[in-house]
Amino acid sequence: MKTAFPLISFGIALCAFIFISCNKEDYDSQVTIEQFNFPQTVIFEDSLTSYQVFSGTPADLTPSADFELLELSSILFTDYSHKQRLVKIPPGTQMIQLSDGTIGFPDGTILTKTFFYYHDERDTSLGKRNIETRLEIKENGLWNAATYVWNEDQTNAYLKTDGLTTPVSWIDENGVSHSTNYEVPSGNDCIACHQSDSKVAPIGSSLLNLNRDVERNGGTLNQLTYLQNEGLLNNFQVNQIGQMVDYNNANASLDDRGRAYLAMNCAHCHNPSGWPKANEREFDFRYQIPFAQTGISFEEEKIKRALDEREMPFIGNTMLDEEGVNLLKEHLDNL
Ligand code: HEC
Ligand code: HEC
Repeated sequence: MKTAFPLISFGIALCAFIFISCNKEDYDSQVTIEQFNFPQTVIFEDSLTSYQVFSGTPADLTPSADFELLELSSILFTDYSHKQRLVKIPPGTQMIQLSDGTIGFPDGTILTKTFFYYHDERDTSLGKRNIETRLEIKENGLWNAATYVWNEDQTNAYLKTDGLTTPVSWIDENGVSHSTNYEVPSGNDCIACHQSDSKVAPIGSSLLNLNRDVERNGGTLNQLTYLQNEGLLNNFQVNQIGQMVDYNNANASLDDRGRAYLAMNCAHCHNPSGWPKANEREFDFRYQIPFAQTGISFEEEKIKRALDEREMPFIGNTMLDEEGVNLLKEHLDNL
């Protein structure tokens, strides 16, 4: 007994050590995305032209008459790409305000997001390269997601479900050249970010984020009011809806900017209805959640470390969002 005891306690200590080093408090740098077998209610066409998203020369990205532009105050960072977001709802239907602050879309809705790079941001007339157009389609009450990769001569884009890496390069507005191996997500990667209660879901359709001024038909007006005037959105008091700030707007408060950054770059995974694997961390980074319930105050250091070591976000971009990460750290330091 006497000789066995130290061995047993060593064993217990070893078990405890292994348990601590393997428990979920430690970040697993090899996060794997499991296969999501969510039900699908549409079969995606092979070619983007089937959806008639654009009129005229497709590469110009001129929306067809039944597609409307949607503009967000704060956006997801994706390797400095530019993005165009559109919505089409079936004739005679409406989008409606939901009690959770998002928009309810009718069956048959198509949401699109096209990612592109200007060759030279100092002179956009020099042209651009379209990389991919992502689609979300609602049928039988369920959303479906897929992306279309543009061909070399920019005449069309084709369904790509298993992901792709493509080199991109551009010159920024200060004349600095950049390049990266842009990653087109796989269909399964879409779902890691685009899920709510184990169903595929849109992300950017928050009224807070859409409640902003836009240019339409030669004038400036509120985007929600514009959609209401067009009969596309149900009537409610737009001035009762709050607004998300643009996190790039240096005149907005640091707190609001930091929260907007977390909301648009992290909250799609870190919210209670998101990807369960991300929610083991119990953060809720949504904009409208009171600060005390976000989990930020207990985990500031962890968040900073995750950013410094580029653990987060681990899909959706290949480049560090320097401005965004600096903003977020400044926000955390000033809490
Ligand atoms: C890293 C997380 C992430 C991945 C991966 C991702 N998305 Fe998104 N997506 C977002 C966020 C956040 C928004 C809203 C913010 C924005 O558009 O800037 C968005 C917006 C969209 C929109 C505009 C409508 C909406 O939901 O707001 C479409 C369409 C879309 N995504 C489709 C896709 C498809 C298809 C894939 C896979 C090929 C995909 N996304 C992969 C995070 C992601
Ligand atoms: C594509 C989904 C996704 C996005 C987007 C995402 N996360 Fe995470 N995050 C996860 C998952 C999954 C884990 C848990 C990883 C594990 O279990 O090891 C995690 C873990 C974390 C952790 C805990 C790390 C640790 O050391 O314990 C922090 C902090 C974090 N995320 C912050 C962020 C921040 C900040 C952003 C935005 C800049 C972000 N996340 C964006 C999925 C995501």
